[in-house]
Amino acid sequence: MGCAIIGCGKALPALEVANDDLTALVDTSDEWITTRTGIKTRRICVDETNVDLAEAAARRALGWESGDYNERRVEPEEIDLIVYSTATPDVMVPTCAALLRRRLGLVNAAAFDMNAACTGFIYGLTVAESMMAASAAGASGAPGRNPVRRALVVGAERLTRITNWLDRNTCVLFGDGAGAAVVEWDPARAGILSTYIRNDDDDTNALTCPTAFDAPQPFDTQGVKVDAMKKADPGLARIDEEVGVTEAVQEGRPRQTLYMHGQKVFKFAVEALNHAVEEVLDRAGLTIDDVSFIVPHQANERIIKYAAKKMKLPLDRFQVSIAHRGNSSSACIPMTLSDAYDEGRIKPGDKVILVGFGGGFTSGAVLFEA
Ligand code: COA
Repeated sequence: MGCAIIGCGKALPALEVANDDLTALVDTSDEWITTRTGIKTRRICVDETNVDLAEAAARRALGWESGDYNERRVEPEEIDLIVYSTATPDVMVPTCAALLRRRLGLVNAAAFDMNAACTGFIYGLTVAESMMAASAAGASGAPGRNPVRRALVVGAERLTRITNWLDRNTCVLFGDGAGAAVVEWDPARAGILSTYIRNDDDDTNALTCPTAFDAPQPFDTQGVKVDAMKKADPGLARIDEEVGVTEAVQEGRPRQTLYMHGQKVFKFAVEALNHAVEEVLDRAGLTIDDVSFIVPHQANERIIKYAAKKMKLPLDRFQVSIAHRGNSSSACIPMTLSDAYDEGRIKPGDKVILVGFGGGFTSGAVLFEA
């Protein structure tokens, strides 16, 4: 209670690629992609970076440019924390959060990146809310933590940079984008009423993307060995084995792309989505009838339809924004929330659930009062 969303914005790269365009790359069709996923087009970064998109989304969320939702303009020095969710950072060091901080001049913000795959924005919002609640509790008796009154929570992805454009099972699904929200601690407001984050083991490696750090290593198990620099990192083979890509990599498939077993992820997604919604409702002591609107992760329109059916809710209680974006991982939920505000579908006092799922397997939800 007390952590209110006061601004929200999104940004997309310029290039729009239609289903028909992808037939130049793989054996697919507009009809297959539309009926199986609900996706018609997706946006793809060519010269935009992850941080470019995040910056544009953040400027809108902060009210510096006309945004999808703003209660007021937030000044740079008012932001105490940046939580930047991404599975596709431009760089490892500095963090994307640090680059964003510098670009926006958020001089008082502690800033870090985090990765919880497609559920990243839910995890990020949960961390921000927890730090704000702890900070508020500290202010009234137990100081000793960073004071966090306002946070910028970002979900930004260049997912198309880890997409294998020769694999029709995955390449038709993904797109790039960024969304951001500004949250403010205000004890007079209800704000976030409950949060829930969860992990299940992805036992069959249904969704993976191994990294490919490739600096040569002058070591073997005995110590320094200059010749070892010419050999492949022996640890990589063990990682490949652990995440189930050995065979594919040996066949020449690029390591750092998404590998997915669609049906297994689909099954997990529907169950996880329903479970996370039930949990946040329970934790807030509410029922689904108290909730005006649900903003789900946008991986496949059919996943949302199944979830709606299981919850016995009409589809119009969900924001569905997948048709012209596809799945942009942790950027989906904040962008879709921005759409809902932009379209006037969230009114003050409405109770709204944000809910996501993704690789890992992560899942989670946030229930808030607008
Ligand atoms: N175009 C045409 N045919 C395609 C295709 C494409 N882009 N992709 C797969 N197919 C084919 C398959 O090869 C298969 O052919 P076969 O029957 O001859 O073997 C057939 O279509 C059915 O494939 P299947 O995987 O059973 O389709 P599906 O109905 O499960 O849809 C997904 C596939 C990927 C759209 C769906 O499983 C999905 O959305 N899963 C969840 C993905 C997800 O959420 N990922 C991110 C999580 S954050």
